[in-house]
Amino acid sequence: MNKLAIIGASGHGKVVADIAKKNSYREIVFLDDDENVHECGGYPVIGKSIEAERIDADVIVGIGNADIRKRIQESIPVEKLTTLVHPDAVVAEDVVIGAGTVVMAGVVINPGAKIGKGCIINTCSSVDHDCTVGDYVHIAVGSHLCGTVIVGDGTWIGAGATVRNNASISSDCMIGAGAVVISNIEESGIFIGVPARRMEMGKKSTKNMGGGIPPNSKS
Ligand SMILES: CC(C)(COP(=O)(O)OP(=O)(O)OC[C@H]1O[C@@H](n2cnc3c(N)ncnc32)[C@H](O)[C@@H]1OP(=O)(O)O)[C@@H](O)C(=O)NCCC(=O)NCCS
Repeated sequence: MNKLAIIGASGHGKVVADIAKKNSYREIVFLDDDENVHECGGYPVIGKSIEAERIDADVIVGIGNADIRKRIQESIPVEKLTTLVHPDAVVAEDVVIGAGTVVMAGVVINPGAKIGKGCIINTCSSVDHDCTVGDYVHIAVGSHLCGTVIVGDGTWIGAGATVRNNASISSDCMIGAGAVVISNIEESGIFIGVPARRMEMGKKSTKNMGGGIPPNSKS
């Protein structure tokens, strides 16, 4: 298939389109539920996300928010979903990558790693040997998972964060930008700092809870 429909005409979607182009997709279009958006990264928005099921194209969800990404991806037949790996990513031969996942430029994924479906492995991040990354996880720009790390579904590892080898992180966690995780995180929540500790309730605002992005936002 030479045509790709990207759901979510946003900043993240624009990056996904660039990777798709480098993966030899000849025709790239966007689907977005906002009727006021007509183009993204120079590509046309041709309809709403509901049209993904019947469009004659491969499909990928280009939405940063994990909850929205999951909801939309789960509504699309798996055989329509593609997986995108930037040609300047280094991915070991035995790595398993799930449907709908995007691997961006400068990423290194080492042998034995398993990446779930609907993940974002963002620019210049690394996933070392034998890591297991769940579904709808976001490994943000410049963050690093050392060897044999486990990351639960829907968790976001913030920009520039590091997770020590063998550490295990629960599902639905937000690891703040620049944090260093040195021990297991067994319950969901927001964790910040060096070493990473649960964010005090009084301290945190609600705007970056969950996927770390306000509800209804796409990037
Ligand atoms: C952790 C995070 C989700 C908290 O967001 P928030 O709830 O809006 O937090 P606020 O900005 O209101 O900050 C609340 C307090 O936490 C501190 N804080 C926030 N993020 C922090 C971080 N990453 N590390 C250390 N302290 C942090 C703030 O300094 C503030 O402290 P104060 O009350 O003493 O002034 C957010 O700051 C973060 O790190 N997001 C990750 C963004 C990212 O990685 N994007 C990648 C895109 S590819």
